[in-house]
Amino acid sequence: MAHTRHVAVVVGSLRKESFNRKLAKALIAMAPAPLSLEIVEIGQLPLYNQDDDPAPPPPSVAFKQRIASADAVLFVSPEYNRSVPGVLKNAIDIASRPYGKSAWDGKPAAVITLSPGAIGGFGANHALRESLVFLNMPALQQPEAYIGGAADMFDESGAIKKPETKQFLEKFLAAFAAWIERTAKAPA
Ligand SMILES: Cc1cc2nc3c(=O)[nH]c(=O)nc-3n(C[C@H](O)[C@H](O)[C@H](O)COP(=O)(O)O)c2cc1C
Repeated sequence: MAHTRHVAVVVGSLRKESFNRKLAKALIAMAPAPLSLEIVEIGQLPLYNQDDDPAPPPPSVAFKQRIASADAVLFVSPEYNRSVPGVLKNAIDIASRPYGKSAWDGKPAAVITLSPGAIGGFGANHALRESLVFLNMPALQQPEAYIGGAADMFDESGAIKKPETKQFLEKFLAAFAAWIERTAKAPA
């Protein structure tokens, strides 16, 4: 049997009622074995400052450790101005430094963007993928996940309303699980 794969879920919105956070919670609830998903928070992080590299602030150190201990990373994010929200980019920068000591290096990744708009955060999804290339994170290619219609996606309990959306996400998670098995480093 495959080892449990601990997946850090990084949500690119700090909004209390964030649709992306609701989606992350729904994914956590539906994740198939061997995946174990957990949100790693980014709202407490200071702004990245390269001057801090020799002694980063404690929240940055703790965040970087959480990412380093994960087997894989799932980004669930809105699109801001056709790109990656600043809070998410900040978190990515924090765990990427000092140079040569990135916590992201080699970790399998997947990207889901969710927006109330029709194009489902396509711009943010691909802008984020550009960073994943440099960060050396093998990213799941298919299925792509640009999800629109966020405002009508969840019921009051946070459950996903449409069965076809749920089925798509199940397919996505199964593909990500297979991708992790193909690309993750062997557990220590
Ligand atoms: C600063 C800002 C920029 C935005 N830019 C975009 C955009 O480029 N594309 C888009 O589809 N939605 C855009 N939106 C709308 C967000 O998709 C919407 O606020 C969404 O609910 C944010 O995700 P969340 O619910 O997870 O917080 C923007 C929102 C903000 C606050």
